[in-house]
Amino acid sequence: MKISVVGAGHVGEMTAVRIAEKGLARKVVLIDIVEGIPQGKGLDMFESSPIEGFDCEIIGTNGYDESKDSDIVVITAGVPRKPGMSRDDLLKINSNIVKSVTEEISTRSPDSIIIVVSNPLDVMAYVALKVSGFEPNRVIGMAGILDTARYRSFIAMEIGVSVRDIQAMVLGGHGDTMVPLPRYTTVSGIPLNHFLSDSQIDAIVERTRFGGGEIVKYLKTGSAYYAPSSSVVEMIDAIVNDKKRILPCAAWLTGEYGIDGAYVGVPVKLGSAGIEEILIIDLKENEISELQESAAHVKDTMKSLEL
Ligand code: NAI
Ligand code: 2OP
Repeated sequence: MKISVVGAGHVGEMTAVRIAEKGLARKVVLIDIVEGIPQGKGLDMFESSPIEGFDCEIIGTNGYDESKDSDIVVITAGVPRKPGMSRDDLLKINSNIVKSVTEEISTRSPDSIIIVVSNPLDVMAYVALKVSGFEPNRVIGMAGILDTARYRSFIAMEIGVSVRDIQAMVLGGHGDTMVPLPRYTTVSGIPLNHFLSDSQIDAIVERTRFGGGEIVKYLKTGSAYYAPSSSVVEMIDAIVNDKKRILPCAAWLTGEYGIDGAYVGVPVKLGSAGIEEILIIDLKENEISELQESAAHVKDTMKSLEL
């Protein structure tokens, strides 16, 4: 298994080291545009292997030739939004970056599965899909696992139980319009409303929607990367080990849930072929309309794309 991670910033570096430490690949290629950064970080990671005991070659590079024939490529390349920069400015810059990265990787690794992380996530996944020409099951966006992990963490904190016992799913686009589903949330199979009042659940849902912003507020100069990299690696584990996990991922929808032509977070079966199935779960009218509203927001952002 060979995995390339493009973007050796916070999310990329943590993803690379987590892949190596979990033994998910024989070779990890870390790629970044800044000279020296991927080489230095890659070497440093590799030098931890005799102590950590992992057997994975890690190399850092500014080019793409080393990534040839990767099984999985993770795209984390991008720039963060800076003061004075509009969402449209960010969209333009990051879509150009994701476009050029996708061109480089799709020609060298035509059979790979692409996991997109760069923001705005749902739209960047669409850029990767369009530019690569891959089938939609091989171009997947990471967001739902992260949003769900935040939701699960907040619930565990509120009730005072182990996070491991919280089963939940957050759907929709990666942003303020995401759709946490309290009706499908349980604590070891016990419905959430056994433990929490409606107002407590509402507060957790609201905190989840702005979970990314909460971290940015603390960090000031960057965004989250521990939970995001764990989320990417959970997807990689499902693919590498053909686990058939049911996980919320951004998938290209063509009519599912009444949504056509957008990447939106939905429950999928993830295995060695990438997205092996998009699950259609029973949603109430208000849940469906929240999901469709979220998709409309994604489509709106897609309108300002120039590909
Ligand atoms: P970062 O700024 O630490 O790293 C980004 C890296 O991309 C930098 O090292 C930069 O040099 C590199 N880069 C820029 N242009 C490039 C190019 N053309 N080719 C190769 N590398 C290039 O940012 P961080 O924290 O790692 O986040 C990465 C992206 O992931 C951001 O867009 C961020 O908003 C997004 N993100 C998405 C999440 C999600 O849930 N989908 C969660 C966390 C972050
Ligand atoms: C997050 O949710 C910034 O999308 C990123 O942390």
